Amino acid sequence: MAQLWGGRFTGSINELAWNFNASISFDKRFLEVDVLGSKAHATMLARQGIITTEEKEQICDGLDSILSDVHEGKLEITSEYEDIHSFLEANLIKRIGDAGKKVHTGRSRNDQVALDMRLYARSEVEHMSELLFKMLKTLDDMMRQHTQTYMPGFTHLQKAQPVTLSHHLGAYFEMFKRDLLRMKDIYNRMNYCPLGAGALAGTTYPLDRDYTAQLLEFYGPTLNSMDSVSDRDYLIEFMSALSTVMMHLSRFSEEIIIWNSNEYRFVTIDDAYSTGSSIMPQKKNPDIAELVRGKTGRVYGNLMSLLTTMKGIPLAYNKDMQEDKEAFFDSIDNTSNCLTLFTDMLATLKFNEDNMKKSAMLGFTNATDAADYLVNKGMPFRDAHSVIGRLVLFCIDKNCAIDDLSLEELKSFSEMFDKDIYDAISLETCVNKRLTVGAPSPDAMKKVIALNANFLETFALK
Ligand code: ARG
Repeated sequence: MAQLWGGRFTGSINELAWNFNASISFDKRFLEVDVLGSKAHATMLARQGIITTEEKEQICDGLDSILSDVHEGKLEITSEYEDIHSFLEANLIKRIGDAGKKVHTGRSRNDQVALDMRLYARSEVEHMSELLFKMLKTLDDMMRQHTQTYMPGFTHLQKAQPVTLSHHLGAYFEMFKRDLLRMKDIYNRMNYCPLGAGALAGTTYPLDRDYTAQLLEFYGPTLNSMDSVSDRDYLIEFMSALSTVMMHLSRFSEEIIIWNSNEYRFVTIDDAYSTGSSIMPQKKNPDIAELVRGKTGRVYGNLMSLLTTMKGIPLAYNKDMQEDKEAFFDSIDNTSNCLTLFTDMLATLKFNEDNMKKSAMLGFTNATDAADYLVNKGMPFRDAHSVIGRLVLFCIDKNCAIDDLSLEELKSFSEMFDKDIYDAISLETCVNKRLTVGAPSPDAMKKVIALNANFLETFALK
């Protein structure tokens, strides 16, 4: 056990307590960001004359050599150390001696870990934005291809009105676009540097916090040292945004599972993203989509866990806060895997366009348009609704679509029906006439696709 804080102690710590307290098994992810932060801190200490330039160089070179030794497998991060900060400092001292003992001047592990988490989370916001961007590009491609691929739109999972696949996918484009914009908000709110806050009350050394913030590409330093070491709001926001991403992925998964079912057969999932059954040879299961839907639960759970951890913590740092890491890392890992896999699965999905079209034609999805036809001929809407209602009942009995009825049959429900009814209620007409902004007609979709293209071209995270 190699601890940083032995001086005040006479006895040694209980082994279980040591393991319980230690965080190295999971905060070793901070290796790179901890080195980055310590180098910036040492650079600032030298510029302020708190350590010499030579010491700063020894510190930076020493940290770089530890980093490359770990990367090359020459040095192992072991549970002998309490956390990644202790591991790095102890190894630095081993390598460069006294200069290594100065790296922690004017710093506490509280602001050190706060900085590491910010740096790590910031790069994860960038990573998630890239994944969301890729999802949007994939959807954009598909939307362009399918402006005339007809399918039923549903309410209550009952066929409602015809739409196109482009339009249906466009709904997800909007959801993931908002998710991406949430990443931008989070980035811009969190991008302030907590380094220099010390344990909670700053320090008496003449640190230049603006300079370290600038070195680490933050917009500036955080403005209250107690808040700096105990703020986890940005993680909660981020995990909440990840939960929303997962909620969208989960809804989309649910649709793919339904569309892939034997009853629907709207899609065929590529073999690369499905699995079989150990007993039933005919099976091809949508496991990836089901797992994405399943993993949504744990991402929500992680958010609840951190919110609950934070709710009773008095200012400033308390060890409870170490619990932020595993929950956060789990949300990051799972959301990133789900986004990556789901986007790839989507890009390779085959749509059975004939089945989708047939399904749209068979479900009375043109009933509203048939009522609108009568309204255009002068019938009040409520009466037209009732005429078409009776007509649908008649068709259900005959097991046919409205389009299959003869003009005579139609006229027995209303004299207002004429030959032009067939064209008025064809699938194409029903969709093509829906021209308002955001509606499914190919013309309306093309305008939205152009707006989306502009969004994709001009989007910037910072
Ligand atoms: N492993 C700790 C954490 O994750 C680092 C900070 C330790 N600070 C302390 N005062 N014990 O929160």
